[in-house]
This record gives sequence, structure tokens and C-alpha cells, in this order.
Amino acid sequence: MCGIVAKVSSENVLPFLIEGLKRLEYRGYDSAGVAVLQNGKIVVTKQKGKVNELEKLLDENPIGGNVGIGHTRWATHGKPDNINAHPHMCNDQSLALVHNGIIENYQALKDILIEKGYTFLGQTDTEVLVNFIDFIKKSEKLNTLEAVKLALKEAVGAYAIVLFDKDIPDSLIAARKSSPMVLGIGIDALYIASDVTPIVKYTNKIIYLNDEEVVVANKNAEYSISNLKNQAITPIIQEIEVKIEALEKGGYDHFMLKEIFQQPSTITDSMRGRINTDENWVHLNGVEDNLSRFLKAKRIIIVGCGTSWHSGLIGEYMIEDLARIPVEVEYASEFRYRNPIISEKDIVIAISQSGETADTVAALELAKEKGAFLYGVVNVVGSSIARLVHSGSYIHAGPEIGVASTKAFTSQIVILLLIALRLGKAKGTIDERKYIELISALESVPSKVQTILENIDQIKYIASEIKDHNNAIYLGRGISFPVALEGALKLKEISYIHAEGYPAAEMKHGPIALIDEDMPVFVIATNERAYEKIISNVQEVKARKGKVIAIVPFGEKIISKIADHCIFIPEIEDEISPLLSVIPLQLLSYYVSVMRGCDVDQPRNLAKSVTVE
Ligand code: F6R
Repeated sequence: MCGIVAKVSSENVLPFLIEGLKRLEYRGYDSAGVAVLQNGKIVVTKQKGKVNELEKLLDENPIGGNVGIGHTRWATHGKPDNINAHPHMCNDQSLALVHNGIIENYQALKDILIEKGYTFLGQTDTEVLVNFIDFIKKSEKLNTLEAVKLALKEAVGAYAIVLFDKDIPDSLIAARKSSPMVLGIGIDALYIASDVTPIVKYTNKIIYLNDEEVVVANKNAEYSISNLKNQAITPIIQEIEVKIEALEKGGYDHFMLKEIFQQPSTITDSMRGRINTDENWVHLNGVEDNLSRFLKAKRIIIVGCGTSWHSGLIGEYMIEDLARIPVEVEYASEFRYRNPIISEKDIVIAISQSGETADTVAALELAKEKGAFLYGVVNVVGSSIARLVHSGSYIHAGPEIGVASTKAFTSQIVILLLIALRLGKAKGTIDERKYIELISALESVPSKVQTILENIDQIKYIASEIKDHNNAIYLGRGISFPVALEGALKLKEISYIHAEGYPAAEMKHGPIALIDEDMPVFVIATNERAYEKIISNVQEVKARKGKVIAIVPFGEKIISKIADHCIFIPEIEDEISPLLSVIPLQLLSYYVSVMRGCDVDQPRNLAKSVTVE
């Protein structure tokens, strides 16, 4: 949430700031702003709305300088408007600061500052923080770096901040705690950002800052890192590889569409080198290195949020079914606050695309404290969760920029299935024939996804039929139930149509009351184990005049006669069916959103990376 970007060099940094903010816009897009040091004075330009709006304003009133900071906001404290937009300056305009995170004790700090005569223009915790640093600097007669450190020791909460001081012309100060921040080392410039996406075009040398570390960077590309205790830190410089094309739309109208269409290759990437159909093996380094721990585990707890929680539910079916290890799936946000029972014999698997979700990080920290073994299923390399866990598997889906998660979901499922297969094989809970069948079925998934992606016309037609409805229900049974939840989430988050996912049999315990001719009901009927039962559920919906859109395997003969629309997808083993059945649901949501004129990649009120609680 919120994107931060900064640069110091001997040239004008503004073009980098704007380009960087556009790359980070998926993190928040309520308002955007920049500050540069121009002729010894801090100049701030900020604006409600997206980075494009800010860019227009800057075209009309150009600014420039060789040190600068930028911010794209997802509002926490204070409404999204021009005043609350970052950067913020202190009262005497000597410091400018951008911030991602929440300063929880900001009100107490604000009260102290008001008493000392400070005034505030808006409602943000960030404006409090920059003034608090200024207050400490002046009252304790400290230099800016010392004041930043002392102020951050008093601040409770999460922060990634970058600031500069008009009296220290060629340098930036940045710090983080519980919010991500990276430093990019160029030949003649230093870059700071919330993640690597704004930086990779200029350098592949990256330092991931750790909690309570503070960096001072200057225009000669010199930097030093120390922590709040004033200990010098020797950083690890990592060479990262992200191709710039991976961050572009590549000819698609939206990132979401590109990411849906990438799935044949992202699914292949997530299993590359991890399965072999000639020799019938499954190999995940993280599981292999910790196999005895997995085999001795009394229980696996999966934590995640949103779409990642849905893939966790699918993982539960797979691991319990194939490896016979009890699995619990928890919303990370609930888990951390309910005093859960966790022991050293538990394995906690965290699922997260961004690797930065605050609730998931906090759930892991709690589980680590209680001695559990932590395993990450993460997309973003070097992210906070990737660094916090004891071991894990990257999903290798590549940058996911559309706010609605698509390709990360399918790649997460691949990893969970590989875990289930490997553990099932090691425990002897899966018979050899089934094991071989599933490995070869998994290998067939990318081409089957491709087949579904070729059926766009029918999906567009169905989208046009449902686009004017205000509600929708998604039904599934067994392993298709989480797919129903995911289908409903995709529809609501990008088209703002109210949608609910239900286990199909549960419908008669309440939601059936909602069904009439105005209610589209999506039925995921691709898993054979639940097939007979779901036929009855479809009959129940039709008897109440609901409009049924069913997803069924090619050749299906019963539901396809009753349903209003049927989307046929290739046949596949039940355990793998979510990898196929979710694709038409992603596409449907995408086209409904486009037809309703919604902002597909940046839906209202959302942000890609939820780094606040
Ligand atoms: C939905 C979506 C969100 C995320 C959730 C967790 O399309 O993107 O529900 O799945 O915020 O994010 P990660 O996976 O980054 O932890």
C-alpha cells in the first residue's frame, strides 16, 4: 500500500520519479506527489488522483532537482485529497518526507507537537512524523540523521520513509520497519523504492533494507547503512533479474488480461524443473531439505488473505487427500488475533503473491515466536515473507501488476499440489498409479488452459448477458468450492457487482432465498467426485428460475441440458480441476468489468500490496 520512490544523482531526478510512480501505482492510486530540491528550496507538487494527473500538472509547471522523492497513495489516515497527498513538509519547510505504513501513536505525538506550537494542514500520520523529526532535531540540537533515528524510536507502527533536508543538498535519508524498501545502486545515482520495479531499468544491484535500518545516500552514489542503535550494517548486495517487458502491458489492453493469458507459460514456469514425467518425480528444494520435518508434522496451518487464502483452501483439499496430514486454513488477519494454539510440531505455510501482506507477515511472526516451522509460497523474490520464513518455494509467476490476482493464484495451486504429491509419495499415502496420473495430468495443464483461452467469444457473450445484474452467486462442491469463492471475489473486486461464493449444498440453508430470474448462478461442476450431487443443486436453482451458467467438462450431458449457458473445459483429474475451472471465471470478470466501464487494473478502494493491517 502506497508506493515510494526516490533518487539522488547529479542530474534532474524528476523523470525517474514520475516513471517510478507509474510502475508503483498498483500499490495505491488515491493521490500522487513529488518533492525536489530546486535552487536550495523544497518544491512539492501533489495532486488527488492518479499519477497521470500529477504528470499533467508538472507539465504545466515544471520542477526539477538532483534530489527528489515521490509517493502514490492508498489512504489510511485522512481522506484522499490534495492536502493529505504526500510528500509532506515540516512547518518551516526544511524537511520533505514520504511514508508508507501507519504510525499508530501519531495522535499522541501530534498532541505534543500542537502544544509546542506546530500546526497541521491535513489529517495524516505522515505530516505528524515529519514535524516530529523536525521538533526532535531542533529541541535536542541533533543533526537530521540523528533526529530521524530518535524520532523513529518513539514512533509505534510500520513505516518505510524517505526524506531530505534542504540544508543537506545532495542526500536522502530512508528507513524502514515492517514496510518494504529497497536501495538500488547505480553507477552515478542511488535509487530508493518500495520494490524493485522502478529501479530494474537502471540497475540490477539491489539491497533489501531490513527492519530498523536507516540508509543515507548521496549524489556520488555513496551510501551508508546503520540501525536505530547506531550500529553500522554491512549490506548484502543482490543482483536481481527482472526483464523490463515483464512490467509492460505487451500489447494487451490491461495487465489483468495479459496476466490471464500468460497462464499457460506461468503455470509451466512454476513447475519447471520440479516435476519429471519420464522418471515420475516431484522435487521442491524447500520440501526436500526439510522432508523429515514435514513428515513428522502433526498439522499444517496455511495462512493467507484474499485470493491467496482461496488457493490455501485448495491446498487443504490436496494435502489432506493425498498426504493425509491435517491442514487448517486461516485468514492471516484472524489467526494473529485469536491466540492460536501453535507448537514446534506445526508447519505454517504462508501463501502470498506480494510477500508483503501485513497480516500474513504478522501471522508468521507470531508462529515463529511459538516455534513453528515456516514455509513460504511466494511470488515476489526477496520480499518480506520470503525473507522471514525458514524455507519455501517461489511460484515464479513473474510480476503481477493487475490488482486482481490471476496468474499468481494458479501458480500457487501448482506449488501446493507439488507439496501434496511429494509428501503423499514420501508417506506412502498415495498409490503409485494415482501419483503417476497426477504428475502427467499436471504437465498437460498449460495446453488445456490454452484451449480455454481460445474460447473468448462465448465468454464475452455471457459477460454481456450478466453485466447489468447487481448480484451473482457462485456454487461449487469439494475442491471446486474455493474456485467458487475466487470467482465471486474476482467479479466483485473489479466490476463492483455483489457476488457470493457458496458450497453448493449449503445453498438450501439460506442463500436459496435470493434466487429468482434476476440472479445469475455460476456453477463449477468440473470435479467428478461431486458431480451427481451438483446436478441436484443445479435443478434446485432452475426450479426457482435462477439463470445458471455452468462450467463443465467437454462431453458433459446432463447439466449442459439444464443450464442457460455452459462453458466446456477440457477434462482433468479432480485434484487439478481448479487450475482449469478458474480460467473462464477470471475472463468473465475481466469482460464484465470492461463492459461496465470499470478500471480493471486499478479498481476503486483497492491496492495490490496490502502492507497495513
Ligand atoms: C484479489 C487479491 C487480494 C490478494 C490479497 C493477498 O484478487 O489480489 O485478495 O490476494 O490481498 O495478497 P498477497 O497474495 O500479496 O498476500
